[in-house]
Amino acid sequence: MPFTIQSFDAPLGAEVIGFNFKRDASPETAEQLKQAWLDRVVLCFRDQDLQPADFVRLAGLFGSPTPQPLQREEYKVDGHPEIRVLSNRHTDTLGDNRPLRIGGSWHSDHSHQQTPPRGTMLYALELPSHGGDTSFTNQHAAYNALSLEQQERAKAIQVHHVYNSPFAPRKMQTLSAEEAQYAAPQAIHPLARPHPVDGRRALYLNPIRTAHIDGMDDAAAQELLGEMLAHSIQPQFRYSHEWRRGDVLIWDNPQALHMVSHDYPADEHRLMHRTLVQIN
Ligand SMILES: [Fe+2]
Repeated sequence: MPFTIQSFDAPLGAEVIGFNFKRDASPETAEQLKQAWLDRVVLCFRDQDLQPADFVRLAGLFGSPTPQPLQREEYKVDGHPEIRVLSNRHTDTLGDNRPLRIGGSWHSDHSHQQTPPRGTMLYALELPSHGGDTSFTNQHAAYNALSLEQQERAKAIQVHHVYNSPFAPRKMQTLSAEEAQYAAPQAIHPLARPHPVDGRRALYLNPIRTAHIDGMDDAAAQELLGEMLAHSIQPQFRYSHEWRRGDVLIWDNPQALHMVSHDYPADEHRLMHRTLVQIN
């Protein structure tokens, strides 16, 4: 193998060292990368220099890249519907035009869908001079750290996910009537959700999207979800990624929460490309 995979000194995360996309992308290496991704939840490739088509092909080693749900002009990369541009210069153009600070609280991508994307991949193109780290939790480890009684209870709890929960800590951007199709789906997932690849359970939380729990009143449901979140974001389950330009990161949504810190200078540009992959 021309590259090595080195775990971070953290409860999750690993760096793929010496990976040259043009030389190393092959079905054989894809299997090694996918195993490391399953084991370590977050994989990082440093110093990448990728054209949009390369970025989509790199994501394709992990699964099937899917078209982005919102296809606005400012989010588009021509010819690549699987890529969405993420920029701190985007605003809520159909709402109050506030700057969009997406991803700024703990969440898991698109959990209101019946089959949420397995992976999210980001490519850092421009970064502020400091700040803007993305933090992750290992939700499989958080589940394993519960008592057996709590695990059994969590397996039986069915949680309703919607696009924007009435209990969300932040408001989603305003959607057009056409885009509202993206917001329409709702899904029920167990609190202790089996991983779609190997069945290991993880605490599946998403404060922006979890609305109700079957058989519980909302106050009790939110209290339980809040307790599970407080448990999950303890330092022993966390990794915080300090971005460098050229980093590509992919994480495993079924076993990670993530959030970005919008603590960087507002006049500096933070620009990334994103693609989502489904299991293939
Ligand atoms: Fe996200």
